[in-house]
Amino acid sequence: MKIGSLTFSNPLIMAPMAGITNLPFRRIVKEMGCALVSTEMISANGLIRHGKKTESFLESIPSEHPLSVQLFGSDPKTMAEAAVIATERGADIVDINFGCPAKKVLKNGAGAALMRDIRLCRRLLTEVRKAISIPLTIKIRTGWIPSGEEAFALTQIAEECGVDAVTIHPRTVAQKFGGISDWSLISRIKEKSTVPIIGNGDVLTPHDVLKMLAETGCDGVMIGRGAVGNPWLFRQSSDLLKDKTPSPVTLDMRKKVILKHIDYAVEYWGEYRAALMLRSLLPKYVRSLPQCGRFREKVVRVTTKQEAVDGVCDYFDALRQ
Ligand SMILES: Cc1cc2nc3c(=O)[nH]c(=O)nc-3n(C[C@H](O)[C@H](O)[C@H](O)COP(=O)(O)O)c2cc1C
Repeated sequence: MKIGSLTFSNPLIMAPMAGITNLPFRRIVKEMGCALVSTEMISANGLIRHGKKTESFLESIPSEHPLSVQLFGSDPKTMAEAAVIATERGADIVDINFGCPAKKVLKNGAGAALMRDIRLCRRLLTEVRKAISIPLTIKIRTGWIPSGEEAFALTQIAEECGVDAVTIHPRTVAQKFGGISDWSLISRIKEKSTVPIIGNGDVLTPHDVLKMLAETGCDGVMIGRGAVGNPWLFRQSSDLLKDKTPSPVTLDMRKKVILKHIDYAVEYWGEYRAALMLRSLLPKYVRSLPQCGRFREKVVRVTTKQEAVDGVCDYFDALRQ
């Protein structure tokens, strides 16, 4: 897969996810063979005002690169300025969010609200393209109407403005994350477009990766919820793409990765903040295993690294017996 000047070892991409795709999480999926990781969506307004929390979303380490930095906002000049800041801070790709259906984003005219104003989209993409020379990508939805008319129009404008790839999550704004994504829209957009098209939506297994590539002809596959608590999806999918049988995830492998995630989290946030994050993250790693409820009860109260590590070790010891 190629995006502008960048070539990737496989077509597997981690979806930007607010509250999830922080640096510790990105390190884990990268180590599992994900070719491209992304920050969560970052407010362009916050960046140009040098908001401390906003800027912290740009923290990165060399081994996770190439890194895509996703921005949201609606003012073309602000977006261009923020794209320059992201580039200076080490982004390899700038991605613009045209798909967020959250009320607080829509009410500021950003995210999926932009798909209703195609002229503003053109101005915004023109400004950002002028401002940066690294690859520029966009992430869009079906739009506000199920036919996907807005998605076709925006993809065409993106191509005319020099955008290097388009990710399509084929759900309408009203669907948010419910219902089923309409992969036929990915195929229809791919047929007409000249830039790489990345498909997204409901990829939960390695077979789904192959199916999406075969059914839609897309160039890359972006995985979101399916990889949360299951980073092995990248390794297994990459195996399947090479015609190898995906290796199963053993209890030992699972425990090792969870402990590594705890280390990365503590390194990044410090012990107490990491513990708060781990309370919701750790149960996701064991949701398919027996007695996951008991594990959850234990880890939702952790306040130190040792408590988190003990919770994990006790749980896996009990499973083995
Ligand atoms: C908790 C959560 C946070 C998300 N945050 C973002 C975000 O910051 N930027 C974005 O473009 N999409 C975001 N999304 C959408 C995902 O990137 C992806 O498009 C969507 O989940 C569909 O893919 P999936 O079916 O593989 O999960 C988010 C989704 C979820 C569930």
